[in-house]
Amino acid sequence: MAVSSCSKVFSSASFECRSDPDFSAPPPRFENLRSRCRLETASFSDAAASATPISLSPAEVAGDEDVVVVAAAEEEEDGNGTVQFKGSVDTFSYSSLTDASKTIHAAERLGRGIVTDAITTPVVNTSAYFFKKTADLIDFKEKRQVSFEYGRYGNPTTVVLEEKISALEGAESTLIMASGMCASTVLLMALVPAGGHLVTTTDCYRKTRIFIETILPKMGISATIIDPADVGALESALEQHNVSLFFTESPTNPFLRCVDIKLVSELCHKKGALVCIDGTFATPLNQKALALGADLVVHSATKYIAGHNDVLGGCISGPDKLVSQIRNLHHVLGGTLNPNAAYLIIRGMKTLHLRVQQQNSTGLRMAKILEAHPKVKRVYYPGLPSHPEHELAKRQMTGFGGVVSFEIDGDLMTTIKFVDSLKIPYIAPSFGGCESIVDQPAIMSYWDLPQSERAKYGIHDNLVRFSFGVEDFEDLKDDILQALEAI
Ligand SMILES: Cc1ncc(COP(=O)(O)O)c(C=O)c1O
Repeated sequence: MAVSSCSKVFSSASFECRSDPDFSAPPPRFENLRSRCRLETASFSDAAASATPISLSPAEVAGDEDVVVVAAAEEEEDGNGTVQFKGSVDTFSYSSLTDASKTIHAAERLGRGIVTDAITTPVVNTSAYFFKKTADLIDFKEKRQVSFEYGRYGNPTTVVLEEKISALEGAESTLIMASGMCASTVLLMALVPAGGHLVTTTDCYRKTRIFIETILPKMGISATIIDPADVGALESALEQHNVSLFFTESPTNPFLRCVDIKLVSELCHKKGALVCIDGTFATPLNQKALALGADLVVHSATKYIAGHNDVLGGCISGPDKLVSQIRNLHHVLGGTLNPNAAYLIIRGMKTLHLRVQQQNSTGLRMAKILEAHPKVKRVYYPGLPSHPEHELAKRQMTGFGGVVSFEIDGDLMTTIKFVDSLKIPYIAPSFGGCESIVDQPAIMSYWDLPQSERAKYGIHDNLVRFSFGVEDFEDLKDDILQALEAI
């Protein structure tokens, strides 16, 4: 890699490329941007300038990433037109907050690199960022100056969302994208080399399985598919193949099976394989996959994280090194999240802890009621002792979420009658939001397959997936009981 200094560039007649293409650089972190924000902070208006200005000081935050230092300062002109601040210093560290408070404040309160007194994070609607002069651009290219550059590589609103998710996951870095599928497909392509091998599980979101079984083979990538609890099958796959990655949901869709994250991480790491957990059903509150040993955690932010059935998004959290590797490909493929969507997700996350608490409680109470009901054949919910991984779920989760899958004691038509008799939930293909949603997977997700093919995935005609929203528990219970009465 040929590298030249800024002065060499200016003295040279020809303008050479000085570096290999590198798209993996994360968007600027806010502590780096604060130096740029400082002067503007003092110059909102005359009134603001005469009142005690507040400045975020990069020097004072250096070395402590999530401590935001606020200087409640007096301003002083240094003779060169630059306003300097001096005075008392307050610190605000969100790392010491509980998850409930992090969902509200992390990456936002005093911590974002956008200059404003607004309580809420502004939406920065721009596709590109300008440089005041070419020397600044060259400084940026030579990594002497940080800046945003182009909308596909980062956006200040989006970075707030990424840092908020990192705070909840205990991750060094998070990459947000246009959808959950975008996140998992880019991750798989970035981390499994052409001709490589991965391990995944039988029960999972159908589109993820389709990608692994039909798209990845075009790159020579093969997969071993194991039962989520079959540790022996994982061990033999690790023995027989050069496995790059174990990619699994936990809990899985739609049977809410759980994978022993600590154990599989130990086994995979011994063989040099990475572990990625799609924790969409768990939420970043009910399960800390990284703390349990996984290398990466993925979410469809469309579901609980955004929580309002109004926006799509997907995220990947983990160590800087791995996330940068994925970011590199993402910046080329371009599944960028729009900043307006990022704002909606940030706003949705303010109530994540309240929603998830309510959904955990309703999910568990309704699972018990359904299991005891004579017209229900079987219930799949990790919070029930009848669930095959109940003990594991209790160890690695702090709540079991708002989705309950169950089989009606009847056939396709009886199950349709039950679904159509419900008054509160929408018949729709998502979950995790405020509005309750019900779907019959045989129809919603597997209707293109004959019944015998569907059965291979355990998807029988009488299966119902119910996502409890945040409506009143008694209303939901009454609705389900009347719909069961109707069949
Ligand atoms: C477990 C899981 N992961 C990923 C996805 C894909 O997310 P999205 O719909 O945001 O692309 C889904 C969608 O339902 C899912 O259930």
